[in-house]
Amino acid sequence: MHSRQTDTPLLKAMQKYVNDRVMPFHTPGHKMGKGMHPVLGTVLGRDTLALDLALMEEMDDLHEPHGCIKEAQDLAAQLYGADHSFFVVNGTTGGIYAMILAVAGPGDTIIVPRNAHRSIIGGIILSGAIPVFMQPEVDHELGLAMGVTPETVAAAVRLHPEAKGVLVINPTYYGVATDLKRIVDIVHQAGMVVMVDEAHGPHLKFGKGLPVQALDAGADICAQSTHKIIGAMTQCSMVHCREGRIRVPHLKSMMQLVQSTSPNYILLASLDVARMQMATQGYELIDRAVHLAEWTRQEINTIPGLYCFGAEKIGNPGVYSIDPTKVTVTVKGIGLKGAEAERILRHKYNIQVELSDMYNILFLITLGDHEEEARALVKALSDMAAHYSGQSNFAVMDDVYSSTSYPEPPEGVLSPREALFGNTCMVPFSESAGFICAEIVTFYPPGIPLLCPGERITQEIIDYCTQLQAAGLHISGPEDYTLKTIKVVD
Ligand SMILES: Cc1ncc(COP(=O)(O)O)c(C=O)c1O
Repeated sequence: MHSRQTDTPLLKAMQKYVNDRVMPFHTPGHKMGKGMHPVLGTVLGRDTLALDLALMEEMDDLHEPHGCIKEAQDLAAQLYGADHSFFVVNGTTGGIYAMILAVAGPGDTIIVPRNAHRSIIGGIILSGAIPVFMQPEVDHELGLAMGVTPETVAAAVRLHPEAKGVLVINPTYYGVATDLKRIVDIVHQAGMVVMVDEAHGPHLKFGKGLPVQALDAGADICAQSTHKIIGAMTQCSMVHCREGRIRVPHLKSMMQLVQSTSPNYILLASLDVARMQMATQGYELIDRAVHLAEWTRQEINTIPGLYCFGAEKIGNPGVYSIDPTKVTVTVKGIGLKGAEAERILRHKYNIQVELSDMYNILFLITLGDHEEEARALVKALSDMAAHYSGQSNFAVMDDVYSSTSYPEPPEGVLSPREALFGNTCMVPFSESAGFICAEIVTFYPPGIPLLCPGERITQEIIDYCTQLQAAGLHISGPEDYTLKTIKVVD
């Protein structure tokens, strides 16, 4: 470890400014907490509020860093193996916007997975790029989308040699990683940029046996939610890039476009400190989280009716490796839907899941967890399985997927941006064949959109959606969630 990695240049500069007892005739208006209403002021405390500083000489400028922010970002780049790292205070959402804007402009093609997080669709809308979608693999037992395979990526770049770049989600929310090294080789051979949505992987570098992190697999750029998995505060993410295929000055301009000119310094300092924590204790902390998660997984798998997938899925389509700290519990076997299990855990056991879907509940085990929490979770799950077995019948849902064939992907006619900003109207869904869709229609499971803005609706898709709806699958996306009507381009 480089000796400077123990330092926190940004936090130190902030503390020095406070200790200098400067008289602040500057923003923020609460003036180090003195003007803030005590309802919040006393909760946050004067020491915290004194650190709520603004852009000034010693505090550097996130958009033109040359002092303590530059130092802090350079240390992050050194730790993660990037040529440049950028602090982001509006989440990986902001990082992904900048990443897409830096690679693809209006009318450019970009290849993305069909189950893209909405920040990816948002970035495409902002840039005016034309998406080409890759279908991720689906695990029907879990009802979840897995990764995209290298073969799927190879086919997409062959069909679209004009594309500027390929974006992959790695690992998924549920901790499934694809063969990123092979994907990077395929994409680079085609002369395109590799972007990685690594929202769920800022810790990968620090764990033995975890999926390879994007930069180590050779990716050109990635965005990580430092706040989701390691020690930064909510909204705090990082973008890391390598020089070469990324035009760094252009990326910097795009980072400026998507971020406030008044970033919150406490948030920025939390990124500085999270980096220092990983540099000094990362291997130990992540190793502990991995072992705790593996123990939790093993215990959960002894509870009748529950299933927590793990290494046995490796080798299945779209599953090259697994991050065990994402503990997905399939509750289908006790007749409960994920949302029902979530409510029971919250209200009867005072435990909050990260998310639930039709068949599963997801728990994150991080550097903040200890044996005590893991034991309490296992106990609660065991009790829930014994006392709350539900009545949900999943046979109809399972049948609908095995008995109906997946429709041909719709043709993209307009860019999502054109569809979104064009004149739109609502038409009956059953009569919408031939219209251009102006919204996203997704069914859970497995959460892969069937229609995206700019795509032509086909009768086959209408019939398929109608069957999924009749089987009781959850719809997400459309303004009219009953899907009696759909928003289309007028
Ligand atoms: C796969 C994926 N990408 C991007 C994001 C956006 O990250 P953030 O919440 O940090 O903006 C999320 C958030 O859940 C996500 O799951």
